[in-house]
Amino acid sequence: MLNCELGMGKPFDIELERLTGRTSYSAVFPSVAAGQRGTFFLETFGCQMNDHDSEKVAGMLLSRGYQQVETPEAASLILYNTCSIRERAAQKVFSRLGEYREKQSEGKVIGVLGCVAQQEGEEIFKRAPWVSLVCGSASYRKLPEMLAQLEAGNQRVTGLDTDTDETFETEMTRRDNPWRAYLTIIEGCDKACSYCVVPFTRGPERSRASDSILREVKQLAELGYSEVQLLGQTVNSYVDPTPRKMRFSELLLAVADVQGIRRVRFTTSHPSDFTPDIVEAIEQQPKICDHVHLPVQSGSTRVLRAMQRTYSREEYLEKIAMIRGASKPITITTDIIVGFPGETESEFAETLSLLEEVQYDSMFSFKYSPRPNTPSLSMSDSISEEEKGRRLAILQDHQREIQAAKHSLLVGERFEVLVSGKSRRENQWTGYSTSHRMINFASQGRELLGTYVQVRVTGATPNGLAGEHVT
Ligand code: 5AD
Ligand code: SF4
Repeated sequence: MLNCELGMGKPFDIELERLTGRTSYSAVFPSVAAGQRGTFFLETFGCQMNDHDSEKVAGMLLSRGYQQVETPEAASLILYNTCSIRERAAQKVFSRLGEYREKQSEGKVIGVLGCVAQQEGEEIFKRAPWVSLVCGSASYRKLPEMLAQLEAGNQRVTGLDTDTDETFETEMTRRDNPWRAYLTIIEGCDKACSYCVVPFTRGPERSRASDSILREVKQLAELGYSEVQLLGQTVNSYVDPTPRKMRFSELLLAVADVQGIRRVRFTTSHPSDFTPDIVEAIEQQPKICDHVHLPVQSGSTRVLRAMQRTYSREEYLEKIAMIRGASKPITITTDIIVGFPGETESEFAETLSLLEEVQYDSMFSFKYSPRPNTPSLSMSDSISEEEKGRRLAILQDHQREIQAAKHSLLVGERFEVLVSGKSRRENQWTGYSTSHRMINFASQGRELLGTYVQVRVTGATPNGLAGEHVT
């Protein structure tokens, strides 16, 4: 499962990386005059996979002669790429759609893409009749065709397949970040956790051919990308469909071998498929980042079983011991859900003790949210919102203390960071270490964005590190 936030904390007021002005393409677009077909505004909610899907949609529209604009007001086509992982995320989409209700009467086309589109399908037309296009993530390649149908006078169009591998065709991707490229290597999910909508919104698992992945990584390196982030809801469940049958760890090594690539990240890993060869690959190849995101969801075996997570607390802890046993330190981060149906106080206490035992470097935590179609929907959502909130606050306080202690030990250490943001405050920058620690640092350097620099940590808070550029 992928998460909606990256990193060990929030960057301070950094300018968006995309404001650096460098726009990069994975391919040369056909020469259709920009804006010939109209303008589009695209807003993205949710995880990295959604961000990357939006990069593909933007690329495809640009290649067909549309021009991207920064505001809905300036657009003839308004698209929302949506997330339905928790109820609040889905509600946010409908409230945003509400804000643009009157736009349709101005002649604008409003479209819903992504997980809410897939989940709600034609229901969206009932809830928001001013929407005229609904398209799930496996149907993006049909978008131009769907837009042509609208132009031809159709009132409403949908694309709701879930089992195609068309999403891997990325030759038109318009990437937002000029140094780090996302690359989906596996789509969908076969894991069927009882609380999760992803198997419904993104369909069954499909892995992309290893030769096609490596070809794209080579192109990316030639375009100047130095960091590649391999994406999948369960990225390490990758099964190469070609006769080469590369294991996930072999793929990591092969990507790292591509000339020009300096860092390879991957997210999100499922504990059940996390095998020793992945740790060996990290140990062996410095370009493979020293960070594993390994969602546990709960510290109680009873709750894990009810969640259909396919491992027990003890089995999870064995994976952690394997990672901690590596010859170099590897950062471990996780996701946790509190208030799953029937979670008792003592089961919640088991989650707290797991935190204590593992000493995560960072955590994303959520109140359980019942989702349509999921098996846990039929379990009584017995824990009140107030109690879920109480547990979440206790959990987060606990993790904050762990992070404060861990971060303070890093003061004085040196990290190589890829500089990815610039503060509005003068001489302040942000970058990530290979271990995915975010460091805000001071430097007199003039143009550091996209470069790798050495930073010494001079200060620590529970949420992040501060440092200075050392030359
Ligand atoms: N309720 C709360 N959190 C959820 N997640 C997934 N589904 C739900 C749900 N129904 C969380 C999991 C997952 C993360 C991305 O979102 O922790 O790993
Ligand atoms: Fe992750 Fe489980 Fe959802 Fe699959 S079903 S995306 S493994 S939480």
